[in-house]
Amino acid sequence: MDGNGRWAQARNLKRADGHRAGAEAIRPVIERLGEYGVGVLTLFGFSTENWGRPRHEVEAILRLGGEFIDRYLDDFDRHGVQLRHLGELDALPRGLRARVRRAVERTRRNDRMIVNFAFNYGGRADIVAAVRRLIAEGTTPEEITEEAIASRLATGDLPEPDLLIRTGGERRLSNFLLWQSAYAEYYFTETFWPDFNLACVDEALAEFSKRQRRFGLVPGEAADGEGPHRGAGDGEPA
Ligand code: FPP
Repeated sequence: MDGNGRWAQARNLKRADGHRAGAEAIRPVIERLGEYGVGVLTLFGFSTENWGRPRHEVEAILRLGGEFIDRYLDDFDRHGVQLRHLGELDALPRGLRARVRRAVERTRRNDRMIVNFAFNYGGRADIVAAVRRLIAEGTTPEEITEEAIASRLATGDLPEPDLLIRTGGERRLSNFLLWQSAYAEYYFTETFWPDFNLACVDEALAEFSKRQRRFGLVPGEAADGEGPHRGAGDGEPA
């Protein structure tokens, strides 16, 4: 959800105001994606690198995370949204931690749509944690496979992302779902996140629907060997 700071600067506002506007943009996007039948959405709210920002900005983002849960938990629960958290929860302030746990617990049986909040998340840290888990389980070198690693990531039980949207004009992955995005389609837009409205969602999905996804194969040719690692792979965003 990139571009909150520049959105604010362009209006002579504080960066924290940009994050607040960014938080406001989330719910309509979730609803629209739900209408499209998207099953899983992951929002990158705070990276492990973001701790290096000025303290007041970090505090503002963490506070907004908590406020967001307070404001929308009932609403999401009513609409069958299952909320999950990706990343290291223990490093978050106690109040936010408790809210996240409550939100995850309360919505865990909801099955209309899964919304992952990547908050204090880093793709590399995710992979490191998965490898540590494998070692702790006494896995032998032969048992370390792509599937073994993938299933121990924070998204272990979920399909790989089909579409990755980055707002704010940057063309980087910035440590987001590194492993999981191997075959994702990337969509970059100059639009700052607070301005990412329903028309922007529609445009991103329209562009996605035009992409030809090959997963490293030759279209129309039968595969003789073992297939590559796939996501949902049916052309529908997951
Ligand atoms: C990146 O934009 C955005 C963030 C680091 C924070 C995103 C946080 C929110 C949208 C609100 C709180 C989160 C939730 C989950 C409710 P940037 O600050 O890097 O923008 P810039 O590139 O223009 O400086």
